[in-house]
Amino acid sequence: MFRSSVGFVLIFLCAMASTDNALALVKDTGLRTGQPGAGGPINGLNTFELALFNEGKARVEALETTCETCVSVLSGGPTGESPLLATRTSATGLNARFNADQCIACHSQPTIGGAGGFLIPNPKEGGNRVAENPLFDLIPHRFGQGNKVPTFIQQYGPIRIARFVKNPDGTPDGRIYPLFTIVGRSDDKTIPQCNAQLLPQPNFESELKKGNIVFRIPLPLFGLGLIEAIPDAEILMRHRASAAYRMQNGISGVPNGSVSYRFGWKAQHKALERFTNASDDFAPQMKKIDPKCVGPNTHVAQELLNAAAFEAPSADFINPLVLLATSFMRYLDAPLPAPMSSLAQRGKTLFGTGPEQPGIGCVACHTAQMNTADKVSTAALQNQTVNLYSDLLLHRMGSSLADNISQGQAKGDMFRTPPLWGLGQRRFFLHDGRTDDLLQAIEAHAAPAGNGYPASEANAVITRFKLLPPADQQAILSFLRAL
Ligand code: HEC
Ligand code: HEC
Repeated sequence: MFRSSVGFVLIFLCAMASTDNALALVKDTGLRTGQPGAGGPINGLNTFELALFNEGKARVEALETTCETCVSVLSGGPTGESPLLATRTSATGLNARFNADQCIACHSQPTIGGAGGFLIPNPKEGGNRVAENPLFDLIPHRFGQGNKVPTFIQQYGPIRIARFVKNPDGTPDGRIYPLFTIVGRSDDKTIPQCNAQLLPQPNFESELKKGNIVFRIPLPLFGLGLIEAIPDAEILMRHRASAAYRMQNGISGVPNGSVSYRFGWKAQHKALERFTNASDDFAPQMKKIDPKCVGPNTHVAQELLNAAAFEAPSADFINPLVLLATSFMRYLDAPLPAPMSSLAQRGKTLFGTGPEQPGIGCVACHTAQMNTADKVSTAALQNQTVNLYSDLLLHRMGSSLADNISQGQAKGDMFRTPPLWGLGQRRFFLHDGRTDDLLQAIEAHAAPAGNGYPASEANAVITRFKLLPPADQQAILSFLRAL
């Protein structure tokens, strides 16, 4: 007993020492500065497609409101202001409960179409304020709204949407609970009797205390048309090609039902427009909303923004924002990597480039490359190489990443390998944005079996990463920051 516990302590100390060592020597250099290298349309679009891209871009920038008369400036109008300051409005519709009132509030890092991002809280104060998490002050208080901001929304922290894991009776919940409400809006005269008693914010703090909330951060929209244009057979073929290597390393990888489900942190969505579209999650909540809080456009809104990004689609619903946002995303080009230093080149080799040259094995899940179909309705998306760094499949990632939310075939510990392109200019990592440090994001991949979940599929690869000399670990970080 005694000897084995001494042995354990020694091993523990050694492990501590080597981690300290690595921590001291290996450092994520942080957000890559310079040109975004993203945000434009894919090359080769025809005039019609380009027009749709531009109109779609204007729509994803526009502020959504709750009544027709709340429209102050038409979307796409020649207002000349910075689109990031978001003063244009449109009355496509905002829900009575919402997370944000424009797509780009959550999709603008490092430029429109990205993931997350910081905005100037009040356009009128522009010069005096530094850009911050728009969910911290700008959006909850826009137009006089008196929302209480949950403590998990921090000034310089990630944009987060919240799900409750369980219902009060212990049955699984998993739905998104929008953070904010329209109560107090000064621009909407159609709902004068709506107030916080009729439309309360959920009690996020008590759910937080109970450990019943989990988070998701936004995903980037760059290159989604390319990802959409990858044929199912290509995804399966790439997966088969790495079968022998994956088997040796305990890595599986499964689709969420079918490989056409490839969008979202859990590959829970099939088509791009579906992601922009409705949410069954919201329907039951909408029915409970008091009519005094439902303006002329609020009905429409349940299919939009706040519901937007998120769950399984409900009935067919065609809306101009949905159509045009889809065109914007479909034609939005992939992010361009920075020129690679020799260190980054070395990191690329260590990361692995494919089944023939697997490096330490990151590439076993983060598939470096796929090709689009040779026939796609948009010619510019045909026969393209997609350097996405993802297999677009789900993996069991162990108990420390698990969010205990099931979506389709994706269990509580399963996540889609996120594409790593554009990573160098992303602020926060992992599905819940728990870190802004790449080294921690990598180390978080590993977990032993626990909490009813098997060990992480990434364990063997992450062990190999940790055994690399610091200079090699640094090379991998350098490669990732060049993406
Ligand atoms: C409140 C913040 C927020 C707003 C507003 C928002 N999104 Fe998102 N978006 C997210 C989050 C969070 C995810 C990841 C959700 C998940 O996978 O569970 C996401 C994911 C997506 C994805 C999937 C990307 C991928 O790679 O799989 C698409 C497409 C998308 N959003 C489009 C839109 C569009 C279009 C709008 C405006 C109509 C919009 N979003 C508004 C937060 C937001
Ligand atoms: C078993 C499959 C697997 C392996 C092997 C793997 N990853 Fe991942 N990786 C994932 C999944 C799944 C996620 C998302 C986890 C989450 O968000 O909870 C992820 C997330 C990431 C992220 C954060 C991306 C983001 O958008 O937030 C980085 C960076 C990353 N991986 C790098 C690596 C590196 C470097 C290696 C090799 C040392 C590696 N991964 C090996 C599956 C894998």
